[in-house]
Amino acid sequence: MPPGDTSASVTQASRETNLDLRPPSISDGNGMWTLASASGTLDVNSRYSYLLWCRDFADTSVIVTDGGDYAGFLTGYRRPDSPDTFFVWQIAVADSHRRRGLARRMLDHVVARDGANPRFVEATVTPDNIPSTRLFESFADANDCPMRRDELFSERALGDGHEPEILFRIGPLHDHT
Ligand SMILES: CC(C)(COP(=O)(O)OP(=O)(O)OC[C@H]1O[C@@H](n2cnc3c(N)ncnc32)[C@H](O)[C@@H]1OP(=O)(O)O)[C@@H](O)C(=O)NCCC(=O)NCCS
Repeated sequence: MPPGDTSASVTQASRETNLDLRPPSISDGNGMWTLASASGTLDVNSRYSYLLWCRDFADTSVIVTDGGDYAGFLTGYRRPDSPDTFFVWQIAVADSHRRRGLARRMLDHVVARDGANPRFVEATVTPDNIPSTRLFESFADANDCPMRRDELFSERALGDGHEPEILFRIGPLHDHT
């Protein structure tokens, strides 16, 4: 880029302002499935499950669009037996939008929603998933709280050569209400 040429940063800045983060509706279910399928690492669930999720768990989930394109999603829920704990089930960002803080933004956004105010955030991550590990470490650092790691589901329990799923438990978070 020639000195003084700001076109790349202007393009990126304008793209960022076009991002719309909101609760998903049923019509976003197929977009979520497409993002999950393209992610390269997520266990891809049925199209039906994403549509159903959008119907029943929209308040604790996020879809991101950039103009007409899907840029990312997060599915999560409050644990029924531990309502102070928000569990992030799946999070994915389209290749074209990675490394620009969008996953962090989705996480910050869903935790800050009215009525959410969790004390703990949980997610499971496979040991080789560096971007995901860094994402949750970054969230814990930004909130100035510890992150515990314990195996939740072993390789044996998951079967099929699936890597173990390590539970990250972040908190207690400070009350922002
Ligand atoms: C994991 C994922 C959602 C991260 O999305 P993203 O928008 O690129 O992440 P962000 O830009 O918000 O980055 C969050 C933090 O992780 C770090 N990070 C992100 N990708 C990274 C990578 N490839 N290598 C090292 N660090 C990385 C960032 O530097 C940032 O840390 P910082 O705040 O300390 O600077 C994305 O890589 C993805 O969709 N992966 C495939 C699906 C997946 O594995 N989901 C998680 C399953 S648990």
